[in-house]
Amino acid sequence: MALTKKLFVKTYGCQMNVYDSARMADVLAPLGYGPGETPEDADMVILNTCHIREKASEKVFSELGRLRQIKADKDGGLIIAVAGCVAQAEGEEILRRAPFVDIVLGPQTYHRLPEMVAQAARAGGAVLDTEFPIEPKFDFLPDARADGPAAFLSVQEGCDKFCTFCVVPYTRGGEYSRPAPAILAEARKLADQGVVEITLLGQNVNGWHGDGKSFGWLIRQVAKIDGIERIRFTTSHPRDMDDDLIAAHGEVSKLMPFLHLPVQAGSNRMLEAMNRRHDRDFYFGLVEKLRAARPDLALSSDFIVGFPGETDADFADTLDLVRQVGFVQTYSFKYSSRPGTPAAGMPHQVDEAVKEARLAELMDLLQDQTNRFNAHCLGLEMAVVLDRVGKHPGQMIGRSPYMQPVHVDNVAHLAGKLVNVRISEIHPRSLRGEVIHSERIRA
Ligand code: 5AD
Ligand code: SF4
Repeated sequence: MALTKKLFVKTYGCQMNVYDSARMADVLAPLGYGPGETPEDADMVILNTCHIREKASEKVFSELGRLRQIKADKDGGLIIAVAGCVAQAEGEEILRRAPFVDIVLGPQTYHRLPEMVAQAARAGGAVLDTEFPIEPKFDFLPDARADGPAAFLSVQEGCDKFCTFCVVPYTRGGEYSRPAPAILAEARKLADQGVVEITLLGQNVNGWHGDGKSFGWLIRQVAKIDGIERIRFTTSHPRDMDDDLIAAHGEVSKLMPFLHLPVQAGSNRMLEAMNRRHDRDFYFGLVEKLRAARPDLALSSDFIVGFPGETDADFADTLDLVRQVGFVQTYSFKYSSRPGTPAAGMPHQVDEAVKEARLAELMDLLQDQTNRFNAHCLGLEMAVVLDRVGKHPGQMIGRSPYMQPVHVDNVAHLAGKLVNVRISEIHPRSLRGEVIHSERIRA
């Protein structure tokens, strides 16, 4: 079908949302929607939203204010849909505050988008669909289309862990594992389209247990697919890091030596209050086992500072954990109180100024570790997937095994390839490399 209409999707938040946005575009293609560049030139706009912290969800309402004007300038000729986790959590509120929105849909119902578009046109009123349907949406989605050499593949969704600060178990629902045959079929189709790197996605990806099999097993199956040279996965929970998965890090050479394993905090008291279900020694033990299996493994984590009740001593434990483990890339956040979560009602909420100061101190330490790791990469040979066009003519940007962006000049002819480079310069947020073998190599 000719793509006669334009769809503009704006994505907030995690990689799960990036994947979902691509799938929404896939679902709407049969209706004639192709990619649009701006909301102004679009026939339909989707905001795929994030509810994880207050700042993220507030962005939605300011963006809607802008879209309202654009819709008015087009005499109403613009369909506005709000998807994702804010839609799931605050669907009614969105329709109340922004009655010009046509469609509100949660993360579990986007396979029904074509119906919703038709319904909105017929009814002339808003359509709200934030159900958790019995039928998993994956059964109704068209084949994923590759967009470059690196692809995301959703294998698991939702979360049963109920960390006391987190909205995910409420917005995304309980844990669901996609069946292995569907995942492997999607991986093969991506490989057929030239994809060399797959990132397996899930809110609790290592909790995947489709057909009674373990996540380590799934990784080994994906590794057997010809054409797939690199495998990553995100995001993991320490409790679900079983021995088989740890062993896979040593045995599956296609599995990248980089693991995002959020710990959130370093004090046992805070880990308990957060309901993380493990203490700091458990985390140290895991890191030790992982490094025994894969000595060049680099770790990344998320941290929250200023969780209710966090004292200077608790925070000192976080700094100490960071020093003991050593991380190469991290995301740190000030605790943000989320409606409906247990932590929102806890006593001893921490002062904003204290959170600010702790965040700055933690980020300094983490940045220091990142810088040291990057400096250590100077002169090393690394395999890089050239998946983005750089700013300068002929320049491409790729990802190292450790997720560092690597700029490489004069390689337009190698776009989309996995190439070996030598790291020649270190910059604060990226590296520069020079190609040493131009043929495709193994990771
Ligand atoms: N406040 C701050 N950070 C949060 N995260 C999740 N919920 C909150 C919250 N209420 C962070 C955690 C998680 C990451 C995706 O977002 O660190 O790992
Ligand atoms: Fe949220 Fe905790 Fe589940 Fe991660 S494990 S999605 S932080 S509840």
